[in-house]
Amino acid sequence: MFIPLLIQLISAELASFHPAQEYGLSNSYDSGNLQFAHYIQASEGEGNGDGGLGDLYEDYNSTADTSSFPKEIIQPDSYRLVTRYSAVGTQNYVCNNTQWALDSANADLFTQPGQILAKHFFLDTPDSFGGRPTWKSNDGSQVTGQVLTKVVVDEKSVPWLVVQRTSGSNTGIFGQVNVVLRVKTVGGIAPSSSCVAGQTVKVNYSSDYWFYSANKGTSDMVKLTSSATRLSAGLIALIVVLFSQ
Ligand SMILES: *[C@@H]1O[C@H](CO)[C@@H](O)[C@H](O)[C@H]1NC(C)=O
Ligand SMILES: *[C@@H]1O[C@H](CO)[C@@H](O)[C@H](O)[C@H]1NC(C)=O
Ligand SMILES: *[C@@H]1O[C@H](CO)[C@@H](O)[C@H](O)[C@H]1NC(C)=O
Repeated sequence: MFIPLLIQLISAELASFHPAQEYGLSNSYDSGNLQFAHYIQASEGEGNGDGGLGDLYEDYNSTADTSSFPKEIIQPDSYRLVTRYSAVGTQNYVCNNTQWALDSANADLFTQPGQILAKHFFLDTPDSFGGRPTWKSNDGSQVTGQVLTKVVVDEKSVPWLVVQRTSGSNTGIFGQVNVVLRVKTVGGIAPSSSCVAGQTVKVNYSSDYWFYSANKGTSDMVKLTSSATRLSAGLIALIVVLFSQ
C-alpha cells in the first residue's frame, strides 16, 4: 500500500528537476517589463542636471531580465549570472594626434546608494592576452578582460559590451567570472571637438555590469548530486518495500 505513495514521491522529485530552466539565461525568464527602481535622490542632485546620467539603482530583487538586450549581448544559456552591479564613474580619453582615444576608465560598483562593492579600472600594462579593463571586488578577487563585442544602443552613450576574461583570480566572487557585460550605459562618450595631442578628458558615465560564469560550478553539481541521492534513496526504499511484501 506504500508503493503508490513512493512512486508519487519519486515522480514529484523528477518533475521538480529542471536544471536547464534554473540556469538558463534568456529562455527561462518570463518576458516582461524591465523593472527598474527609480531611487534617484533629488537631494543628492543625481539623475537630473548632472550631465544626463540616468537611473542608477536597479531593482536587484527583480528577475535578471535580458529580454530587451540586443541579441549580440545575450550570452549562451549555459552561462550563469554570478552577480550584477550598477556603476558610476568616468571614461578617460587622451588626445591621439587630433582625435580622442579611450585610454582607461574608473568606476565604483554598487547595488545600494553609498556602497562600493567593487572598482573598475584599466591595467596600466595589458595582461599577456592584451586585456586591460579590470574589475576588482572588495573580497580581493579580480577579473581582466578583452572586449569581444560592442553594440551602440544609444548614440549619446558608450556602447554595450561583451568582455571576455583574459586573466584574473582563481577564487573569490570574480574568480569564477568568464564574461562581463556592460549594459544600460548612460554617457561616457568622448567630446566631439578636436583636440591637441596629449590633452586628456574624463567623461562621466553610468552603466550596469553583469558578471557571468561559463562554469556552472558547484551549485549545479550539488543540485545534481542531491537530486540523484534523493532519487536513489527513493528507489532503494521502493525496492525494500517490494521485497518485504
Ligand atoms: C561628473 O561627476 C562628478 C561626480 O559625481 C560631478 O561632481 C561632476 O559635476 C560631473 N561632471 C559633469 C560634467 O557632469
Ligand atoms: C530587496 O530585498 C531585500 C531583502 O528581502 C529588502 O530588504 C529590500 O528592501 C528589497 N529591495 C527592493 C528594492 O525591493
Ligand atoms: C592613434 O592614432 C594612430 C593613427 O591614427 C592609430 O594607428 C593608433 O591606433 C591610435 N592610438 C590609439 C590609442 O587610439
